[in-house]
Amino acid sequence: MTRNLFVKLFGLFFILLAIYALAAGLLALSNATHAALWAGLIVLAAAVLLAFIVAHRTAARLKRVAAFAHRIAEGDLAARLDVSGTDVLTAVEIALNRTAERLGQDFDEIESSRHDLAVMLDSMQEAVVAITAEGQVRWSNAVMQHVAGPQLAPGKPLVHSVRDPELLASVRGALERRELCVGRASILSPGRVFEVNAAPLPTGGALVVLHDVTSIEAAQKSRREFVANVSHELRTPLTSIQGYVETLIEDPETNPETTAEFLGIILKNASRMNRLTEDLLALAGVENPDYKLALHPVRASGLLCDAIDSLTGIVGDSGVELQSATAPDALVMADSYAMHQVFGNLTENALKYAKSGKRIRMGARLLASEVEFTIQDFGPGIASEHLERIFERFYRVDKARSRESGGTGLGLAIVKHIVQAHGGRIWCESELGQGASFHFTLPLASAQQPVPEPQIQTPAKE
Ligand SMILES: Nc1ncnc2c1ncn2[C@@H]1O[C@H](COP(=O)(O)OP(=O)(O)O)[C@@H](O)[C@H]1O
Ligand SMILES: [Mg+2]
Repeated sequence: MTRNLFVKLFGLFFILLAIYALAAGLLALSNATHAALWAGLIVLAAAVLLAFIVAHRTAARLKRVAAFAHRIAEGDLAARLDVSGTDVLTAVEIALNRTAERLGQDFDEIESSRHDLAVMLDSMQEAVVAITAEGQVRWSNAVMQHVAGPQLAPGKPLVHSVRDPELLASVRGALERRELCVGRASILSPGRVFEVNAAPLPTGGALVVLHDVTSIEAAQKSRREFVANVSHELRTPLTSIQGYVETLIEDPETNPETTAEFLGIILKNASRMNRLTEDLLALAGVENPDYKLALHPVRASGLLCDAIDSLTGIVGDSGVELQSATAPDALVMADSYAMHQVFGNLTENALKYAKSGKRIRMGARLLASEVEFTIQDFGPGIASEHLERIFERFYRVDKARSRESGGTGLGLAIVKHIVQAHGGRIWCESELGQGASFHFTLPLASAQQPVPEPQIQTPAKE
C-alpha cells in the first residue's frame, strides 16, 4: 500500500515538474522566479519523501502489532512487542504488552486452580461426573472412570456409557427440573451400591456425585439380622419360662413332682438365656474395635498342654479318648486367657457334636512364620456348603440340635475374632461322616516386628 502511495506521490511530483518546465518555457520566467519555483519544488519533494518514510515505518509497526494480536489470539500469551519511542503507538504497544502479561498471569492462575480441582476430585472417594445440558459427559474423576469403565468418555452421551436406570433417572430429573435429585444406583458396578446426588449446575448441565454405600448397607443389614436373631433366641426361652410360671401361679395345687419338673424347665431356659447373654457380651468384647489382647511370647507346646489338661477334666470318664501329638517348642505371640476361650469353644464343640466319634485328637505343627494348631474329631462331620458359614454369628448346621445341647451359635464367631485379633487364620476341613478338623494359626514371636524402644533424650550435662 505504501509502495503505491510512493509511486503516486512521485508521479504527481514529475507531473508538477513537467508542468513547471512547460510553464517556464512558455512564460520565459525571470531568473528570480525560476529559483523560487525550484526551491518550492525541492521542499515539496523533501516533504513527500519524509511523509513516505514516516508512513512506511508506521505501517511496519502496525504490521508487528497485528502479528502480535494474532499470536495472542492463537494462545501464545508469552508474545511481547519490542517497545522503543515515545509516540502514541508506543503507548498502545506498552498497553498491549501489559494486557498480554495480565492475561498470561490470569491464565496461569486459572490453570493451576483447574489442576488443583482435578487433583482434589480425583483423590475423592466419591465418583463424580459433570454432564452438559444435552446429557453428554463433560468431565469425570478417576473413581467414576474406574466404576463406569472405558466407555465413559467426554463428549459421549451419558446414556451410552451408563446403563443404570436409577442413576439416569436422577440425572434426567436434575437436568429437566433443575433441582437436586437423590437416588440409588445398584447395577452400575456389580456388587456395589451407590447413593446418587445429581445437582443442576448454574451454567446448565448437572454435577453427579456417587457415594459408595455398599458397606454401610451391608452393616445395616447385618445389624438388622443380628437384632432379629437375638430377639428370636431370647424369645424362645422367655416364652417357655412365662408359660410354666403362669401355669404354676394359676394352679397352686400342682403336685410337687410336676412343680419340680416345671421349675427344672424354667431353670434350664434361664441358664440358656444366661449363656446367650454371656456369649453376646464376649462377642461384643472381641468385635469392639478397641479390643486389646495381652500378647506375650508363649510356648506353643504349653498352650496345647493347658488345653489338653482342661479337656481331660471335662471329659472325665465319659469314654472319649484324647490323643495329642507332640507340639513344637516355638514361642508364639498369644493372650493366654483368650486362647483358653478358643480351645474351650473348639473342644466343647468336638465333645458336643462328635460324641459318636469317641476320639479327639489335638496337635500343633511349626510353619514358616506361624504355628498351626489342630483340633480333630471323628464325629458326623460338616457338609462342605456349611464350612464357610459356621464362623458366622448364629449360624448352625442343625439349629434344633445346637439349642438342645445348649449352643448359642456364637462360639465359632467369637473364636474367629480372637484368632484374627492375634493375626492368625482359622478354617475347618471336613467331610460328611469323616469327622471335622478345626485349624488355626498363631504368629511366631520371632516373626513379630520388634517394637522400637522409645527414644529418651538425656539433657546434656553442664
Ligand atoms: N466339631 C463339630 N462337628 C460338627 N459340627 C460342628 C462342629 N463344631 C461346630 N459345628 C457346627 O457349627 C455350628 C456353629 O458352632 P458354634 O458357633 O460353636 O455354635 P454352637 O456350638 O453354639 O451351636 C454348630 O451349631 C454346629 O452345627
Ligand atoms: Mg459351640
